[in-house]
Amino acid sequence: MKELDSMLKGTMEEISGRVTKVSELRQKIGQDVLLRGWVYRHRRTGNLAFVVLRDGTGIVQCAIKNDENDKSAWDAANDVFIDSVVYAYGQVANDERAPGGVELRTKDFKVDFKGEPFPVSKDQSAEFLLDVRHLWVRSQYMTDILKFKAFLMRTCRSFLDERGFLEFQPPMFVGNAAEGGATVFEVQYFNRKAYLSQTGQLYSEAMISGYPLVYVYAPSFRAEPSRTPRHLTEFWQLEPEMAFYDQAMNMKLQGELVETICTEAAKKQPDILKKFGRDPSDLAAIKAPFDKMTYGDAIKKLQGMGLKIEWGDGIGLDEEKMLVKDNTQPVFLTNQPKEMRAFYMKINPDDTRTVKDADMLAPEGIGEVIGGSERVSDYNELVKRLKDLGQKEEDYKWYVDLRKYGTVPHSGFGMGSERMVRWLLKLDSIRDAIAFPRTMNRVEP
Ligand code: 4AD
Ligand code: MG
Repeated sequence: MKELDSMLKGTMEEISGRVTKVSELRQKIGQDVLLRGWVYRHRRTGNLAFVVLRDGTGIVQCAIKNDENDKSAWDAANDVFIDSVVYAYGQVANDERAPGGVELRTKDFKVDFKGEPFPVSKDQSAEFLLDVRHLWVRSQYMTDILKFKAFLMRTCRSFLDERGFLEFQPPMFVGNAAEGGATVFEVQYFNRKAYLSQTGQLYSEAMISGYPLVYVYAPSFRAEPSRTPRHLTEFWQLEPEMAFYDQAMNMKLQGELVETICTEAAKKQPDILKKFGRDPSDLAAIKAPFDKMTYGDAIKKLQGMGLKIEWGDGIGLDEEKMLVKDNTQPVFLTNQPKEMRAFYMKINPDDTRTVKDADMLAPEGIGEVIGGSERVSDYNELVKRLKDLGQKEEDYKWYVDLRKYGTVPHSGFGMGSERMVRWLLKLDSIRDAIAFPRTMNRVEP
């Protein structure tokens, strides 16, 4: 029996045990290996066929010579589509011209599943690629982004775990709109209304009097009507909450987290960074503590740039862009006016027009990637803050109740994972920072 036929005999587990991963080929120069994967590209020049195979760990070119292969292998190599499932058997050879630096000198080739002509290629419009996202997620482009995002999420978790934080899971069905009624998704919940969670924060605040350092890494839902390159309706938010932390400690922790993400990425993901046009040394140079700019100073700076803006006006996407367009380091925008900030933010004792908050603005015109604040920990202050903002105390009954028992000064923040990935990989749109983006006009695929 032929070598390849005998290697494909047995159970799925036995066959899988004989397969070599593309990422391991550099260590197998000169050896005969079995590869399994999907056709990434294919072409033929005369008596030589090239099938580039991908297996999730990388891509490798399989060269199939007509005169060195059986007719069945030659025919098979010439009768594939992109994403057909194939097996290739042959010798690993150094080849500087080939992608990845190695090539398979193929001795036998089999098509396991041919399928239909693959409808997707990278030259298609962004909208089309979103329509066929269930197929586009197979691309090297998406795989690289998702590998990087998984790395980022792992790095965040170990950063916090090493500092003694406890991860817990908040509910996704909630009874209130913690981040404002304008962006809350309402759902029918049996015979009452409920909402999809915009933040885990209020639940984190309930946890910290039991365990002082906690975090949530979960989806957040926002009915964002805006079609911007930085808004999703469903995104993954990292939210640490810390008892006995004031806002200075809160910002210090955020700086350390972002510095760690950047230096680790530069060290451990240089290949992916370079593919996306990001010089790893840009990220290795990100160093906390980051500068702070008060809202008041930001308004002056914007006025100096010729913008018609006054104290009390909101700082939106365009203004943030202007503030950080020439930065190479993130900067904290602090002390925003209390009227436009969330009810849970503590009023600044030194300037009672403002709260003890900070948005971390990423450089290169990216803008907000983290929002955080010191929280109101006093019962009466919280009730007054809700009242001043025109909100009803009974909508936040259990949250207000926390201030009656063992309440302590505390702070926390929320980091948008997709915004971080967009910044670090220089993506045009946040939609590519998540496998199946949810936006105003898209819940499928
Ligand atoms: O500033 P936000 O709304 O803050 C909160 O939700 C607080 N409860 C966080 C906390 O203190 N625990 O959101 C936090 C971050 C933003 O800085 C941004 O990175 C991201 O979440 N974010 C979004 N990302 C993608 N699409 C959206 N629609 C987002 N809205 C916020
Ligand atoms: Mg915010």
